[in-house]
Amino acid sequence: MIIKTPADVRSSEITPERVYWRRRAFLTSAGAAVAAFATGAFVVEPAAAAGAKLDVTKRTTTTTDPPTPYSGVTTYNNYYEFGGDKSDPATNSKDFKPKPWSVAIEGACAKPGVYTLEDILKPHSVEERVYRHRCVEGWSIVVPWDGFPLSDLLKRYEPTGNARFVEFTTILRPQEMVGQRRFAQILPWPYREGLRIDEAMHPLTFVAIGLYGEELANQNGAPLRLVVPWKYGFKSIKSIVKIRFVDAQPVTTWQAAAPEYYGFYSNVNPSRTYSIYRDQAKERRLGEFFMRNTLPFNGYADQVASLYANMNLQKEF
Ligand code: MTE
Repeated sequence: MIIKTPADVRSSEITPERVYWRRRAFLTSAGAAVAAFATGAFVVEPAAAAGAKLDVTKRTTTTTDPPTPYSGVTTYNNYYEFGGDKSDPATNSKDFKPKPWSVAIEGACAKPGVYTLEDILKPHSVEERVYRHRCVEGWSIVVPWDGFPLSDLLKRYEPTGNARFVEFTTILRPQEMVGQRRFAQILPWPYREGLRIDEAMHPLTFVAIGLYGEELANQNGAPLRLVVPWKYGFKSIKSIVKIRFVDAQPVTTWQAAAPEYYGFYSNVNPSRTYSIYRDQAKERRLGEFFMRNTLPFNGYADQVASLYANMNLQKEF
């Protein structure tokens, strides 16, 4: 984001952990060795301990690209509450406690209240969605997320006609989150994100409680986070404690920090350059050496472009 430009691939991020990724892992290791040599990268800490297993009932994949190994998805992270380097979230979130947890449901709905994590999760069966994830910094991953559609959750609280947008807020715990102390002057904490109600209700929009069949690691946003695969990764807010139905477009964290770069919509758009440094036309898949072309709406245009039919996305970005 604006704090730091992306680091190049580090060799530890493609270390294979799963037997069934062995062949793939060999190929990516070979590529990464070249990348590591070229960038002077070095090994960082291994992935954090795996979480509890989830009972996944259904699997859907939206891409033929192979998933990024677990070790990469859990050690190359953006979670500024835990620091600005890619390895910081895994290192600095070890003592963070995602349980007990509750989520406040507020605003224009019939059933506001503070709900425990157990209340929130109980009615939902857990499904797996393999999605591409594209960060505005120019890197991408493919992740098998476990969770349920956000729409199934939101409908339970019966949003009213005034619920035109949904605002999401991450937990504020400066004692446990070093970045909330260190970057207090740069980013307005707590981290906030938002979606238009039709975006929030879109079948692709997902609440993740796990990945690779295991509960989310702290660095990935435990115990629950958003995943919006056609938008830049910063829209996929982590460790949510508040969901608020509102009638006006909320101001999001990155928009507040740098409105000329980060818009409310932030749909992946290879034809829009976000800053003088960063052309969004290409991306580097974690573990690969060569850049690949970025696709409009991150490849989900056939499913989501109609949401923006009457908008000029160069202006309303
Ligand atoms: N959510 C919070 N609360 N804080 C953050 O710094 N970073 C965002 C997003 N959600 C972020 C966040 C960005 S920039 C990205 S790319 C994704 O989380 C990264 O998710 P991952 O680390 O699970 O890959």
